[in-house]
Amino acid sequence: MKILLIGATGTIGKAVAGRLAENHELIVAGYSDGDVIVDLGNTESIRSMFAEVGNVDAVVSTVGLANFGPFDQLPDDEYQLALSNKLMGQINLVRLGRGYINKGGSITLTSGVLSREPMQGSVAVSMVNGALESFVKAAALELDSFRLNAVSPIFVKETMAMMGMDTASGLSAADTAKAYVAAVTGMMHGITLDAPAYV
Ligand SMILES: NC(=O)c1ccc[n+]([C@@H]2O[C@H](COP(=O)([O-])OP(=O)(O)OC[C@H]3O[C@@H](n4cnc5c(N)ncnc54)[C@H](OP(=O)(O)O)[C@@H]3O)[C@@H](O)[C@H]2O)c1
Repeated sequence: MKILLIGATGTIGKAVAGRLAENHELIVAGYSDGDVIVDLGNTESIRSMFAEVGNVDAVVSTVGLANFGPFDQLPDDEYQLALSNKLMGQINLVRLGRGYINKGGSITLTSGVLSREPMQGSVAVSMVNGALESFVKAAALELDSFRLNAVSPIFVKETMAMMGMDTASGLSAADTAKAYVAAVTGMMHGITLDAPAYV
């Protein structure tokens, strides 16, 4: 398959790139580096990326900015970043990319466990993760030429280590990547794949 991966330089993206490249032709799009440069928060940039890359069998997104912060201190711009980047950025990959997906192909987005298991300080992240999962479920009802799914990672061990957290409850990036491979190669449509279920 010819696969466009957005976010291949990230913690999860690097592991997904490693696994997908074993069996597929990979085109990587990144914010600062890659075969194609894209800014997820900019609609024109997403449009140019698809025009430059052309048709593919699958699009995988392992990007999306949304920050943590206490509810009573979270400023407008943090909500706006989460909405415009992680949520609408990925939704725009589907809206603008749909014409470039070969019949029978797929788009896989990234949400996160905080949609269903929030923690203190996760309001903005939980908000967009939940919205992404609902979007995928609803949009899939109207998409019949390609499959649309989301992967919901739990905390990644490498990220926890970077944040100085105990990594025991996390999943490695390499194991998290297996859910993305399942979404690309499987038959599911309109679902959220919980990463731990695909290890
Ligand atoms: N890591 C976790 O524990 C975890 C858990 C649950 C969910 N998630 C979700 O998984 C996704 C990836 O997380 P991660 O930890 O792997 O992220 P990460 O290591 O911070 O990597 C982020 C990636 O996004 C790219 N990027 C940043 N801003 C961008 C923009 N405006 N347009 C296009 N690309 C942009 C970066 O590219 P450059 O390197 O070029 O800047 C990088 O490839 C996020 O949606 C995150 O919320 C992560």
